[in-house]
Order: sequence, then C-alpha cells, then structure tokens
Amino acid sequence: MSPITPPMKNSTAIGLTALFALVAFGILISLPEKKVARESSQDLSRVFPLASGKTLFEESCVQCHTLPVFSTHTPDQWKVLVKKMNRYMEQTGKKYLSADETDAVTSYILSNISTKH
Ligand code: HEC
Repeated sequence: MSPITPPMKNSTAIGLTALFALVAFGILISLPEKKVARESSQDLSRVFPLASGKTLFEESCVQCHTLPVFSTHTPDQWKVLVKKMNRYMEQTGKKYLSADETDAVTSYILSNISTKH
C-alpha cells in the first residue's frame, strides 16, 4: 500500500527550510537598514530636535539678531515671518526648524501677543 503522492524527499525538505530561513533572515536584516538610510538622508545635525515652542524660539531666533518683540507684528504677519526667517536659517547654514517646529514657534509667539503689549 503506497501513498498517492510520494512523501517529500529529505533533501527537498531541508532545501525548502533553508530557503525559507534565508528569505526570513533577509527581510529581518533589510528592515532596520532601510530605516537608517531614510534618517541619514537628512542632515540632522543642522535641524533642531523637537522641543517646546518657547525653547525653539529662544534658541533659533537669536542666531542672527536679538529676540523680536511680539507686539510689533500681527498674527498673520508672524505666520509668514517665521517661515521666512527659517528659510534664512537654512540658506545661511544655521540650525533651522522642521515644519512641526516652525508651527510650534509660531503658536508660541501668537499665544504671547495678547499678553505682551
Ligand atoms: C539666519 C539669520 C536669522 C535668523 C536665525 C532669524 N532671523 Fe529674523 N531677521 C533676519 C534678517 C536678515 C532680518 C532683516 C531682513 C528682513 O526683515 O527680511 C530679520 C528681521 C526680522 C524681523 C523684522 C522683520 C520686519 O519685517 O520687521 C523680525 C520680527 C524677525 N526677524 C524675527 C525672527 C524670528 C521670530 C526668528 C526665529 C524664528 C528669527 N527672526 C530668526 C535674519 C534672521
């Protein structure tokens, strides 16, 4: 009495196991590699680490001039100005802000306009 399909040969089973292990290992080692590549494509040394709007304001804006007075500009003017200043920082090789940090600095300024006249 023989089975309808012959049992898998030992060598085939070992081959398949080895192939599966190779593929799994390949996926495993390729994952962290891709992540590192994505991070290092940006020059992180020149970008501020995410911090509070106040800290970012105090540390980034004094790179070229004294800290501005909040009451000199309207909220709409500040929104444009912070982006413009950040472009200056990037163009002149200073530390500059990410999009999230630009928003944090802008909200910090806007939240202080009403209290400091
Ligand atoms: C890379 C250098 C640099 C950095 C850093 C910088 N600024 Fe300026 N800032 C300038 C220069 C140059 C001017 C004058 C020319 C101009 O107004 O475009 C200026 C002008 C200003 C003015 C007056 C503009 C006006 O129209 O009255 C304000 C307010 C100001 N900066 C705020 C900021 C704030 C807020 C930050 C931080 C987010 C900042 N700056 C960071 C270079 C810089």
